[in-house]
Amino acid sequence: MAAVSSIFLIAAVASLCSPAAAATTCKSQTFSNNVVYSNSTELPTLKACLHWTYDPAAKPNPTLAIAFVAPPAKSEGWVAWALNPKLPAMIGSQALVAFKESNGSAVVKTYNISSYGFITESKISYEVLEKRAEYSNGVFRIFAKLVLPEAEVVNQVWQVGGSVKDGVPQKHAFSGDNLASKGTLQLTSHGVPSPAPSPSPSPSSSSGSAGAPPPQSGTNDAGSLRFGLSGVLGLIGASILML
Ligand SMILES: *[C@@H]1O[C@H](CO)[C@@H](O)[C@H](O)[C@H]1NC(C)=O
Ligand SMILES: *[C@@H]1O[C@H](CO)[C@@H](O)[C@H](O)[C@H]1NC(C)=O
Ligand SMILES: *[C@@H]1O[C@H](CO)[C@@H](O)[C@H](O)[C@H]1NC(C)=O
Repeated sequence: MAAVSSIFLIAAVASLCSPAAAATTCKSQTFSNNVVYSNSTELPTLKACLHWTYDPAAKPNPTLAIAFVAPPAKSEGWVAWALNPKLPAMIGSQALVAFKESNGSAVVKTYNISSYGFITESKISYEVLEKRAEYSNGVFRIFAKLVLPEAEVVNQVWQVGGSVKDGVPQKHAFSGDNLASKGTLQLTSHGVPSPAPSPSPSPSSSSGSAGAPPPQSGTNDAGSLRFGLSGVLGLIGASILML
């Protein structure tokens, strides 16, 4: 009895931290201008999604087009997405920050973040070919196209804040998720072995057996139950760490 109820408890806790809902939301997001991006990534914090198309063959320079979608910390707040040419960190970020102007229109401005203090609109080290922001249903969308020298991986940083004063985005919270909102963005799959089957002739005629299903036996279910439970326990461990 105790074992059964603790399994329910585990399932309940696991469902609370399931990323599935957010992932579905990212993939299903569409845009008013019908632009379709070739890739989309659910960012691990702040309910943010990045949709992007990297075109290394664009003329005269390679371009990165993005749509960044995230809810601000409060409706009068701001959201930001940035590339950092040096490190996956806030300082040095070349940021696009969206917020509402006093007349209610969403705008996106660029900021070269060189300190933790007051930020002012400035040029960034990437050429910005297009930028535009929207706000609706509690989320901001930043649309932008940047010139990006050919790269396989770039550092990205994203953030949300709760207020804007006299046109200046105010400091964001410094809690776990706000500090963890940085990472890398894999632009091209170079170096990743292709999962496609090789067209070269197979060295032996027995290759068919490699694809045969594993023998069925009663132990498979027990094995997957153990795997499932340890995954759930791992999730609980992770969520305790995050608290
Ligand atoms: C981006 O999408 C394209 C087309 O679907 C795919 O071939 C490519 O592997 C994706 N890139 C990454 C880094 O996931
Ligand atoms: C709001 O103000 C900005 C400039 O401050 C202007 O570009 C924009 O068109 C205005 N929006 C509306 C709806 O009037
Ligand atoms: C951004 O700020 C840093 C530090 O002040 C400065 O060295 C750099 O030149 C600035 N970048 C641009 C594009 O203005």
